[in-house]
Order: sequence, then structure tokens, then C-alpha cells
Amino acid sequence: MIEAKNVNFYYGDFHALKDINMTMETNTVTAFIGPSGCGKSTFLRLFNRMNDLIPGTRLEGQCLIDGEDIYAKSLRVDDLRKRVGMVFQKPNPFPKSIFENVAYGLRVNGVKDRAFIAQRVEESLRGAALWDEVKDKLKKSAFELSGGQQQRLCIARALAVSPSILLMDEPASALDPISTSKVEELIHSLKKDYTIVIVTHNMQQAARVSDKTGFFMLGELVEYNDTKKMFLNPDKVQTQNYITGRFG
Ligand SMILES: Nc1ncnc2c1ncn2[C@@H]1O[C@H](COP(=O)(O)OP(=O)(O)OP(=O)(O)O)[C@@H](O)[C@H]1O
Ligand SMILES: [Mg+2]
Repeated sequence: MIEAKNVNFYYGDFHALKDINMTMETNTVTAFIGPSGCGKSTFLRLFNRMNDLIPGTRLEGQCLIDGEDIYAKSLRVDDLRKRVGMVFQKPNPFPKSIFENVAYGLRVNGVKDRAFIAQRVEESLRGAALWDEVKDKLKKSAFELSGGQQQRLCIARALAVSPSILLMDEPASALDPISTSKVEELIHSLKKDYTIVIVTHNMQQAARVSDKTGFFMLGELVEYNDTKKMFLNPDKVQTQNYITGRFG
């Protein structure tokens, strides 16, 4: 379970997230929607501490995973990032082979057992619905894959270290409709094993893949509701305006 309690976040003087309270249940898909610049990526990045890398930022409130404060001094960030995988908007494979891209996380974690690594690479590529397309060219460069395949490779890379949470920041926005639907099917099938949070600008995508949706505006969580309810009969007029395209 992922929880934000009274979360405020600042880039210098800029107040980017305003008093956010939110609970995301285990083995659900949550979508974040809202106009550009409303804080979706900022909020998502809090949960694997990616914002720590940005100087001059400040967090107030608590971010918890399974009840544990992930900003506690005792917490090791590399352990957290093993539990919380992330996939970005643009596929960002390493300049390595397909195999080594997926094996990377295991190797940096000190895994040496070659049979284990090979098995985990296969499982992860299967999990990311890419195995059949790449099984005969695992030694080829990841850059020889199409954009959609590269994105699924990045998902496989995230899966390889067995995270329990997957954060996806517009994972399909650079993909064609076929690759997009593959990524969406994948999200659907991963849900039984993972807790997934996805940022998307595509309302249909949010409606198709998620159980719950959070609508953000100007750093505030305006509405957080069951996805069906959100898209059929939202509680807030701002949500209604946004999803019907009246602004944003
Ligand atoms: N590194 C940064 N330094 C300063 N301000 C930032 C930084 N990153 C984001 N911001 C600001 O914080 C606000 C939220 O940005 P964020 O990237 O979280 O929005 P977003 O909802 O993901 O937008 P988009 O849909 O365009 O990706 C914006 O006003 C942005 O300008
Ligand atoms: Mg963003």
C-alpha cells in the first residue's frame, strides 16, 4: 500500500504539491491525470525518491509504503528503488545488449549466478510481453529495437529486480497505437503481482487501465475516485470540465 499524508513539496520557493493525502491499495492500478505542470510527475517521483536528486527541493509530510516512512533516515534508497521500479516517458535503454539491459539491475545488486540471471531475464522479458520478439537476438543492441519494443524492454528492466511497485510516467505517450495497446494489456496483466501508478494525458487510457484515478490541478489533488465514477459522474465540477475537454 502506498500512502501520502499531508504532502507538500517545494522547488525552492515554488510550492509544487499542496497538502496531498492519498492511499493507493496493493495490486491496483492508479492513474494520475491533470493539465501539464500540475505536479503529477513530481508526486510520482516522490515514491522512489527521484526528487532527492534535484537540489533546492523540500518535502513536508509523509510518504509511506506498507506503513514504512520512505524518507526515514534508516531507509536505504537503493533498497527502496529495488522495491519501486520506474518507467519513463521516453524509452531509455542503456547502450548495451537487450540481455544486458535486463540483467543490469541484478548485476549491480551483486548477483553473479549466470543461470539465475538468464532465467530472470527471460521471465522479465516474458512479463513485459517482449520475449517472443527478442529471444533470438538477445545479444543485439537495445537500440536496434523499435520505440515500442524499447519501452517494453525498459519495463522488463524494471521487472527484473522484482519490485512490488511500478511507477510509470506517461509510458505510452511516445508509442504508436499498437505498441500503446500492448503496454496497456501489459499493465492489465501485471496488476495481479504489482501495484501500479501511471501518469497519462490520455483519458481513454486512464479509463481503460486504472481502478482509481486522481485528478490534479495546480499542485492540488482535486478529486480521487474510482475510475468508473470519475469518468461517468465525477464529484467535482473541475473534474467534469477537465475530462470533457472544457479546459486543460
Ligand atoms: N526540476 C524542477 N525545478 C523547478 N521546478 C520544477 C522542476 N520540475 C518541475 N517543476 C515545476 O513543478 C510543477 C509541476 O511539474 P511536474 O513536472 O510535476 O508536472 P506534470 O503534471 O508532470 O506536467 P506534465 O504533464 O507536463 O508532465 C511545474 O510548475 C514545473 O514547472
Ligand atoms: Mg510530467
